[in-house]
Amino acid sequence: MMQVGVDQGYQPVQPIHYSHKIHAGDNGIDCKYCHSSARVSKTSGIPSLNVCMNCHKSIYEVAESTATEEYSKEFYDGEIQKLYAAVGWSDADQKYTGETQPVKWIRIHNLPDFAYFNHSQHVSVAGIECQTCHGPVEEMEIMSQFAPLTMGWCINCHRDTNVKVQDNAYYTKIHEELSKKYGVDQLTAAQMGGLECGKCHY
Ligand code: HEC
Ligand code: HEC
Ligand code: HEC
Ligand code: HEC
Ligand code: HEC
Repeated sequence: MMQVGVDQGYQPVQPIHYSHKIHAGDNGIDCKYCHSSARVSKTSGIPSLNVCMNCHKSIYEVAESTATEEYSKEFYDGEIQKLYAAVGWSDADQKYTGETQPVKWIRIHNLPDFAYFNHSQHVSVAGIECQTCHGPVEEMEIMSQFAPLTMGWCINCHRDTNVKVQDNAYYTKIHEELSKKYGVDQLTAAQMGGLECGKCHY
């Protein structure tokens, strides 16, 4: 029963073949350019098609050298056409037609509703890299779930990872008191309260 609801490796076929390898890897586009809310809110979110069009108004095809044995240039160019159809862009006329059809991206990572997870707490406050939890995304031609997202996975990291107290006034006093209590210099997320049921379940 331990594996029920554990979707590690889940890799659905998306409505548009969107390659993180080509965008975040080969072209070095920053994760937060598209997933901009990760820094400041609970969710990371999926970018709207307008964000895609910042570039794709002018990028209507891929270079020959982007094609691989598995995916041809024609295939990739066809996927960019799908983006145009969805956002209602006529490349011939260089204008929007007004006819849109939203892309229904299939959600991959999904915690049960009774567990609370917050991106900004981990990304901005703790300074953890996206890749620590999501794996080598910049190498993924097709996105898949890297971590098991089980309670044990959360807890183990809270036991092992020190809280980043430097340059964070919020922690100065708490750090002083707790490090005395535990007799240590560095505090783990667990010692800071990261094992309390109510932090993740309420
Ligand atoms: C140019 C825009 C863009 C960039 C840059 C980008 N992503 Fe994404 N990301 C998407 C889109 C679109 C999806 C939804 C389609 C998919 O799952 O492949 C997505 C999906 C994801 C998902 C899965 C979401 C789910 O449903 O669970 C993760 C995790 C993710 N991105 C992480 C990253 C990380 C980490 C980086 C940087 C290394 C990054 N992304 C860079 C556009 C982007
Ligand atoms: C910052 C610029 C930028 C943004 C934003 C961007 N792209 Fe791209 N896209 C590129 C570049 C560069 C290429 C590759 C061109 C090449 O290889 O010659 C590309 C290639 C593609 C391709 C063909 C390769 C593949 O991934 O299948 C598709 C489809 C595509 N983009 C869809 C999207 C979608 C959907 C979004 C929004 C979620 C998006 N792009 C956002 C720059 C961008
Ligand atoms: C500490 C681990 C951790 C880190 C660091 C992390 N994520 Fe996530 N991410 C998760 C978990 C857990 C979920 C599932 C959240 C849920 O279902 O409520 C998730 C979900 C997502 C999703 C799906 C949409 C959403 O918001 O639920 C995207 C996209 C994503 N992460 C992108 C990123 C990007 C980009 C970064 C870096 C800026 C990042 N993540 C950093 C653990 C992490
Ligand atoms: C890669 C390591 C890592 C993983 C994986 C991780 N966390 Fe964390 N988490 C941290 C760190 C470090 C902190 C302390 C951040 C800070 O400085 O406040 C933290 C803090 C938290 C807090 C705030 C605790 C408090 O005392 O206020 C919650 C809630 C939380 N995490 C939930 C989760 C959940 C739910 C998961 C699994 C879905 C998870 N975390 C996975 C490293 C991780
Ligand atoms: C750091 C975050 C975190 C803390 C702290 C935490 N949990 Fe969880 N818990 C989760 C996540 C995420 C899940 C969902 C994933 C899973 O079922 O493994 C979960 C699942 C559960 C489940 C459902 C298990 C199942 O098989 O469906 C129960 C019951 C539970 N937790 C009880 C507790 C109790 C009791 C505590 C305190 C002793 C606690 N949790 C502390 C994150 C946490």
